[in-house]
Amino acid sequence: MSAVKGTVLVTGANGGLGSAISDQLVSQPKFANYHGLYTVRDAKSAPSLMSILSKNPSHSHNVISLDLANLDSVRKAVDDINARVEAKAIPPIQTLILNAGFQDFGKPMWTDDGFDMTFSANYLGHWLLTLLLLKSMNKDTGRIVVVGSQSHDPYDKRNEGTQAFDGDYKTFVHDEASFEAIAKGTWSSAQEDPSWRSGYRRYGAAKLFSIMMIHELQRRMDRDPVLNKVSILGVDPGTMTTGLQRHANWIIRVLMFKIIYPIIAIFMPNGLVRSTAKSASQVLEAAFESNPTYGEFPKDSYYFDTKPFETSTESKDLRKRDLVWKESVKYAHLEPGETILADWQ
Ligand SMILES: NC(=O)c1ccc[n+]([C@@H]2O[C@H](COP(=O)([O-])OP(=O)(O)OC[C@H]3O[C@@H](n4cnc5c(N)ncnc54)[C@H](OP(=O)(O)O)[C@@H]3O)[C@@H](O)[C@H]2O)c1
Repeated sequence: MSAVKGTVLVTGANGGLGSAISDQLVSQPKFANYHGLYTVRDAKSAPSLMSILSKNPSHSHNVISLDLANLDSVRKAVDDINARVEAKAIPPIQTLILNAGFQDFGKPMWTDDGFDMTFSANYLGHWLLTLLLLKSMNKDTGRIVVVGSQSHDPYDKRNEGTQAFDGDYKTFVHDEASFEAIAKGTWSSAQEDPSWRSGYRRYGAAKLFSIMMIHELQRRMDRDPVLNKVSILGVDPGTMTTGLQRHANWIIRVLMFKIIYPIIAIFMPNGLVRSTAKSASQVLEAAFESNPTYGEFPKDSYYFDTKPFETSTESKDLRKRDLVWKESVKYAHLEPGETILADWQ
């Protein structure tokens, strides 16, 4: 094997899409020269990832425990990764794939830090992880890929028919108080709406914040003396049968996602429901290559089905983006010197 070109880090590497991404990284010759950093909630319990890694003993990798819903765990994992890069034990991060995700389907859970699990696991943990890992990114060609979702945009046609965003739910965040209500899970609570839709809206809010991070972090990196060549972009993976539905009722979990959707995916492989393998190739294409149809993958771009896709109007609102960024600094207790991003506050 020739010299290792860079490190690729995948969060949620034991999950449905994460396993498919890991499988392609481990088995496809074009990725043979990358070192894989696979983060899972508990490195001792990642059966799907372990079975994938066992297929190719020559694949250079580490498996790291990372609980995105625990800010101490994020800092601990980052210290470990940054130390390995600094000691040149592994090469700088070429690609950071923010893939882990969680949806409570209306059965909310809270983190030890007092946040709604949906907010913390999908957004705040990834935001902090990214800011702290910038130090270890390849400063010339490094790329960050956010796995997005249609749920971030109430006006996305794919949300029509769900009734999740009917009434007052067309926008997510207005001010500090509404950000706090999302972070603490008091907005769209199970008391307010006991159906799966309450969880879907909070998941949508967390995905909106992640997509705001694409726009806002790129803006801040573009002006940064060290990070101005690093890019961040997003991919909407579409609908897939994965562990994401594990907290749903049986109609959604079994009937829709295990029976109806897989049948639709077989007969309509290019339809809205797709295999994790297909979405994984699209994520990896955005992470490593230039787009075969549209040329380069520019900075601050977003894709669905390999085509450029508009993010929501709310995600582009400069005032709201600034508010969400500043609240994230506060909620993650980001301290001076923790990130190399010059404009971090
Ligand atoms: N499935 C879909 O239809 C769909 C649609 C649009 C977008 N997405 C997005 O696709 C991505 C992958 O999700 P998936 O569908 O593959 O679901 P999945 O099978 O449940 O995988 C998600 C992974 O995230 C990990 N995770 C959850 N909470 C975590 C935490 N607190 N700390 C660390 N890791 C955590 C899970 O770890 P454990 O295995 O330990 O639970 C799991 O490995 C997510 O970003 C999701 O939002 C999925």
